[in-house]
Amino acid sequence: MKAEYKIKLIHKMVLGDTCAVLTFSCPEIAENGHPGQFVNLSCDHFLKRPFGIMSVDREKKTFSIGVRKVGKGTKEILSCNEGAEFTCLGPLGNGFSFEGVKKLLLVGGGTGIFPIYFAAQYAKENSIPCTVVNGYRSKTDAFLYDQFASICDNFHVTTDAGDLGVQGNVMAYLEKMDETELEGSTCMVVGPGIMMKKVSEWALAKGLVCYVSLEQRMACGIGACLVCICKIKAEQEGKEFVHKRCCKDGPVFRAEEVIF
Ligand SMILES: Cc1cc2nc3c(=O)[nH]c(=O)nc-3n(C[C@H](O)[C@H](O)[C@H](O)COP(=O)(O)OP(=O)(O)OC[C@H]3O[C@@H](n4cnc5c(N)ncnc54)[C@H](O)[C@@H]3O)c2cc1C
Ligand code: FES
Repeated sequence: MKAEYKIKLIHKMVLGDTCAVLTFSCPEIAENGHPGQFVNLSCDHFLKRPFGIMSVDREKKTFSIGVRKVGKGTKEILSCNEGAEFTCLGPLGNGFSFEGVKKLLLVGGGTGIFPIYFAAQYAKENSIPCTVVNGYRSKTDAFLYDQFASICDNFHVTTDAGDLGVQGNVMAYLEKMDETELEGSTCMVVGPGIMMKKVSEWALAKGLVCYVSLEQRMACGIGACLVCICKIKAEQEGKEFVHKRCCKDGPVFRAEEVIF
C-alpha cells in the first residue's frame, strides 16, 4: 500500500551535529509501515529523498525517521522545525519478512541503525527473542543507545574508537558469538555496503538466513525510473544476474542473492 500524503513534523530530536529523529503525524504510514520499508520525503530541491522508517506509533498515528546530513536535501530537511509540512510517499518497498522467524540477530551501522530500530521494535511487540549489534564510530556517535537498550535485552555495540562496547567494527562482536547463541537465528543487516557484505558472508557461512537492505541512489522511489537498479543473482533463469529495482523489488533482499 502506498500513496502520497501531506504530513506535519510534530517532533524533532537532535542527535549530535549531523543527525536528528523526525516524527511526523500520518495515520496511514503509522498503520501500514513495516520494518525495512521506507518513505520518500519532499524537500525544497528537485526529487524527494528516501529514508527508512525508524518506528511507528499506531496509537498516536505517527511515524519517525532518522536523518543524517549528507547534502543539500538532508541539510534542508534537518533545518525544519516542528510544524513544518512535507509531502511524503509511503510506505514504499518490500520490508523484512518475519514469517517463520523464531529468533533475530539485527546488525546496524551508519544510518542503518534507524531502520534496525524498527525491526527491534517489531521483535519486542511480537515477543521474538532478539539480539542487536550496532556498530558506531565512537561513543559520541552512539545514537539511540538508551532507546535500543530499553527495548532489547541483548543489545551490544562496537566502536571503531573503542570507547564504548567492543573495539572494532560489528564483525569484532559477531565473530566471538558462540554457536548456541546463533543457532536458529535470522539475521537482518542495514548499514554501509562493505559492512553488509562482510556480515552476509559471515552469516551465510554459519548457515543463517540473512537479509540485507540495499541503499542505492533513488529518484522516483516507486519503480518507474530505473535509477536504483542493483544486481541480483539469477542462476535459475540461466543468467549470472538480473537487474532489479532497489525501491520496488527491494530494498530488502536475501543476502545470498545480492551481488555487492
Ligand atoms: C532505502 C533507503 C533508505 C535510506 N534510509 C536512510 C535513513 O534512514 N537515514 C538517512 O539519513 N539516510 C537514509 N538514506 C540515504 C538518504 O536517502 C540520502 O542520504 C539522501 O537522499 C541524500 O540526499 P541529499 O540531498 O542530502 O544529498 P545529495 O547527495 O545532494 O543528493 C542528490 C540526489 O542523490 C540522491 N541520493 C544521494 N545519496 C543517496 C543515498 N545514499 N541513497 C539514495 N539516494 C541518494 C538524493 O536522493 C538526491 O536525489 C536511505 C536511502 C535509501 C535508498
Ligand atoms: S528510484 Fe525510480 S525505479 Fe527505483
